[in-house]
Amino acid sequence: MSYLIRFPDYFIFGTATSSHQIEGDNKYNDWWDWETRGKFKVRSGKACNHWELYKNDIELMAKLGYNAYRFSIEWSRIFPRKDYIDYSAIDRYKEIVDLLQKHSIEPMITLHHFTNPQWFMKGGGWVKEENIRYFIRYVDLIVNEIKNVKYWITFNEPVIYVLQGYISGAWPPGIKNLKVADQVIINLIKAHNEAYNILHKHGYVGIAKNLIAFKPSSNKKRDINAYRKIDIAFNWGFLDGLLNGELKTLRSTYKVESGELDFLGINYYSSYVIKHSWNPFKLYIDAKPLDTGLWTTMGYCIYPKGLYEVTKNAYEKYHKEIFITENGVAVKDDELRILSIVRHLQYVYRALQENIDVRGYFYWSFMDNFEWDKGFEQRFGLVEIDYNTFERKPRKSAYVYSEIARTKSISDELLQKYGLDKID
Ligand code: FCB
Repeated sequence: MSYLIRFPDYFIFGTATSSHQIEGDNKYNDWWDWETRGKFKVRSGKACNHWELYKNDIELMAKLGYNAYRFSIEWSRIFPRKDYIDYSAIDRYKEIVDLLQKHSIEPMITLHHFTNPQWFMKGGGWVKEENIRYFIRYVDLIVNEIKNVKYWITFNEPVIYVLQGYISGAWPPGIKNLKVADQVIINLIKAHNEAYNILHKHGYVGIAKNLIAFKPSSNKKRDINAYRKIDIAFNWGFLDGLLNGELKTLRSTYKVESGELDFLGINYYSSYVIKHSWNPFKLYIDAKPLDTGLWTTMGYCIYPKGLYEVTKNAYEKYHKEIFITENGVAVKDDELRILSIVRHLQYVYRALQENIDVRGYFYWSFMDNFEWDKGFEQRFGLVEIDYNTFERKPRKSAYVYSEIARTKSISDELLQKYGLDKID
């Protein structure tokens, strides 16, 4: 087999998941509480039953030859009550890490992936600065118990968390208040900085930041302004705050104490076209998914070049090592998943050729899972889950990605069948 695209040896090909989306029975977090109160159409329930089937899942991952695995620890399992530590849950995560390492799969651990313990939220959650200490107590415990892990992520998609939980109110805690949202963002930056100081003694610390490839709909001044506003508020405002001390949100600009990142995690899914709107309820911004003709069941399009665009922008702005900590598609036709992986990787490769320091790529997701308010219908997995029997069935894409991970290359045959002829 011949290869046109060969990644460097240090480059890792992994997959990603999160606790609430796969484990099942996460009874002590805020999502479970909302689900129980009927706020969503679907409940997470047993999810993929990964809490029981973790050994099978990691063995399958090993068989497929993936190099790395990003997963999250469920804070509410460790502290189901404010002053009670469940050491059996810590043991389970230790076992997961041991198993991964035994199979030479590099673990990357996320400490906060959207969910919070119920007791934490009842006490005011992230709105109150004094509550940061509870998160820090948990981080400190975990990093001292789970040793020899190289990669840590403090927060997954802090801006999405705030947007959904405190601006649109679609997710718990269901608040719709821009002022409160800003308070939460400021507290998340503080929490990251404190957690960084602890974690950095043990490994490399990053954040997983969702970046969208926004485009202005025209050259009109008002469209360009709307585009700039959303690009800053969504993509860069938080990172500028964290790294440079100037936080920009939809509402305002704040001086905050800056902190550090050893690497930047980028979660990339989509591109939106931005137009000025006269509607104050839309904050004068109108966003439409870029139409590339290749739609996912989530309602947005596959636009691989956008991954290159946001990665390049992020690298030029911050000069941090980069991991693509999430990229993937929910589709009915697995062929489209293969196409998406190959084409996104073509653009990662282009970034590497331009000396943008990308160290790895994690496909979202290893297996189908509970896609938050959208439930189980969104099929993001390389591995298919039968939710009645919990049987795992690797799709063709799982084997294709396996070949890519093992060889750290994209074969000419794959490129010809699925790739873009021209990378512009
Ligand atoms: C990201 C989330 C992840 C998953 C994917 C599809 O925004 O981090 O949990 O839901 O989207």
